[in-house]
Amino acid sequence: VRALLTPKDLSGLKLLVSAGPTREYLDPVRFLSNPSSGRMGYALAEAARDRGAEVVLVSGPTCLQDPWGMEVVRVESALEMRAAILERYPHLQAVVMAAAVADYRPAEVHRDKEPKTGEEKTLRLLPNPDILKELGANKGNRVLVGFAMETREGLHRAKEKLLRKNLDLIALNYVGREGVGFGSEENEVVLLSRTGEVEELSRRPKREVAHRILDWVKLFWKEYGH
Ligand code: CTP
Ligand code: CA
Repeated sequence: VRALLTPKDLSGLKLLVSAGPTREYLDPVRFLSNPSSGRMGYALAEAARDRGAEVVLVSGPTCLQDPWGMEVVRVESALEMRAAILERYPHLQAVVMAAAVADYRPAEVHRDKEPKTGEEKTLRLLPNPDILKELGANKGNRVLVGFAMETREGLHRAKEKLLRKNLDLIALNYVGREGVGFGSEENEVVLLSRTGEVEELSRRPKREVAHRILDWVKLFWKEYGH
């Protein structure tokens, strides 16, 4: 019913949303990951679908059901997520990277489950590619939106990421606040645009945060002449 009642102001927009964590496997049964629930990304994908956009959702492992009315691509690692996104990038007009991509992956992935030795052990990690930075380096007239998870110096760091990754908008999340962010139904974010605007969104359901972000996507999308 909600989808039927929503004005189709994003019809014609080809949008990819990434969501959820990535898993970086050490062996067949162990991995490095983070507590991302995927809810913010799924809320964005669903809100965009309701507004008439053609949506691809690239999702890391989550407990959430595949939303109807969009292409859903399930991936695990950052490298898989990168491949799924880059493959579709030429046909897209906008990308929102809501996924919590792991910054590192184990240098060695064991084919078999390694029994413990009881000894101290060192884990060697390799840096993962920065997917959003790669998209920004080849932006064309696409709209790019990122998220920044910060525990301190949020505004400063988010602004730096906006510039470094060549984004149109970045949504700053303070992690560790009660009832917002990771795993929660609600979020509290600050939106920073490439044009220097700052919009503070007080605590509200992720669906409402999603709609505000999509208003910005629409603005840049129109501006870029699609
Ligand atoms: N991101 C990405 N690829 C990565 C890491 C992050 O595409 N390998 C994206 C995230 O999806 C997010 C944005 O970049 O939209 C910012 O992520 P964040 O972790 O806050 O920034 P990093 O650049 O990884 O910097 P750091 O973790 O060191 O603060
Ligand atoms: Ca990171």
